[in-house]
Amino acid sequence: MTRQSCRLGILTGGGDCPGLNAVIRAIAKSAMNSLGATIIGVEDGFEGLVEGRMKELSNADVSGIINQGGTILGTSNKGDPWHYPMEGPDGGIEIVDASFRTLKNYKRWGLDALIAIGGDGTMHISHRCGEMGMNIIGVPKTIDNDLLCTDLTFGHDTAVYVATEAVDRLHTTGSSHHRVMVVEVMGRYAGWIAASAGLAGGADIILIPEIPFRWEPVFNCVIKRSTRGKRFSIVCVAEGAQCPEVGEVVKSYDVKRTDAKQLGGVGEYVGKMITEATDIETRVTILGHLQRGGSPTPFDRILATKFGTKATELVAEGAFGRMAALQSNEIVSVDIKDAIERQKLVPPDHEIIRAARAVGTSFGDEDGR
Ligand code: F6P
Repeated sequence: MTRQSCRLGILTGGGDCPGLNAVIRAIAKSAMNSLGATIIGVEDGFEGLVEGRMKELSNADVSGIINQGGTILGTSNKGDPWHYPMEGPDGGIEIVDASFRTLKNYKRWGLDALIAIGGDGTMHISHRCGEMGMNIIGVPKTIDNDLLCTDLTFGHDTAVYVATEAVDRLHTTGSSHHRVMVVEVMGRYAGWIAASAGLAGGADIILIPEIPFRWEPVFNCVIKRSTRGKRFSIVCVAEGAQCPEVGEVVKSYDVKRTDAKQLGGVGEYVGKMITEATDIETRVTILGHLQRGGSPTPFDRILATKFGTKATELVAEGAFGRMAALQSNEIVSVDIKDAIERQKLVPPDHEIIRAARAVGTSFGDEDGR
């Protein structure tokens, strides 16, 4: 491609998160400035690529959006081209392979490259699109921070900030009423948000999927605190937290998604069990999408901008099939296929866990404490 003729597509896939607009802005501005590129925004993630819904973005379209939450392009987590929901003849939903339509639209719009901003689902699809012949670059996003090969994804810092503020606020009301305050945070199968917000907010108990909990240590922790005069406790629960006898708590299933399972509800369960076992009044807060909405933190804006400019550099180098990543404070690139090998979970001996344990936080797995 020549400098003047580069047509660069951008899409945001999967759940939204703060910092998406900062990446879109960074890619568009840096590619316009350094490559003279025409920027094509794909609407609603891979759904828009399947359906050919795209539009040219001007400098004005990407101006003044670094601080805006959400994504100006729209996104979807139901647009996997290889698992595409279509209305069947009987009016029901049929899952079909619509992948050939993505390549057709990529060509029809004359794209030289496509930058896909998303989490593991988006990177899986991106990898397959690359195998079909598209020039794909990835940018890692997700509040969950569960993408391999990058120390952090943008969006995570904002989610942790929101969750920490919630823990702080629950402290004051919980201590006033001598209650156990349970807060359920997002994160899917990973406990990064719960571990970080729990540590930063000084939670007494943190429950994460990577460390299966038992009821006894949870109840003991609450009771011990109350006998020591601390008549309130804060429990920070990841939505994927589980104890062996219950397993994952699933809120609903949506067959239109590649991973149909939607987690949620473990917080209510934990709250109910604590009240029954200890007779201490319990209140449950489910933070939900508050963690994904609103303005990104300065850290996320900066990380998003660095990732976006790196993605443009990768396009200029023709380094397709690569994903921008953060490793030991450096912006690098990695193979998309390495990033999707498995999910990045919290190692049970991670320093964040060790630090929390050192200051007396329970993970619901202790013996005799
Ligand atoms: O992956 C981001 C995430 O917010 C998860 O933490 C959560 O389980 C899921 O998305 C919620 O998805 P939805 O927005 O479809 O309810």
